[in-house]
Amino acid sequence: MNKVAVFRREHFNAAHRLHNPTLSDKENAILFGKCNNKNYHGHNYDLIVKVTGIPDPKTGYVIDMKILSDLISKEVLERFDHKNLNLDTTDFETLNPTAENIVIVIYNLLRDKIDNKLDLQIRLYETERNFVEYPS
Ligand code: NI
Repeated sequence: MNKVAVFRREHFNAAHRLHNPTLSDKENAILFGKCNNKNYHGHNYDLIVKVTGIPDPKTGYVIDMKILSDLISKEVLERFDHKNLNLDTTDFETLNPTAENIVIVIYNLLRDKIDNKLDLQIRLYETERNFVEYPS
């Protein structure tokens, strides 16, 4: 099987606060450090979307990159770019917006819209050195 992985890199800026309301302020401060700052703070997120499959015999594409790019813009960037993840989105109303949870949310948003015969994996950089991947 001549499976090929194709990648699209995107970028968004968003603010968040990591906080677990069931814990005390002190516990939150210990667990989440600077990311518990009550007035929020921002990150420059880099997003890498990986799609794997066999190139279509008709087009030679695994997936049309224009379609993939438009899909990421519509489903992810319009939803999260320049937003406060805790306050401006419904996705993180009750879900702590850690990189781990953000990457799962992004995966689920895109998975529904991409042909099931293609594999999808998302990598999300919260900083240059800290990044997550889902599915792992
Ligand atoms: Ni943070």
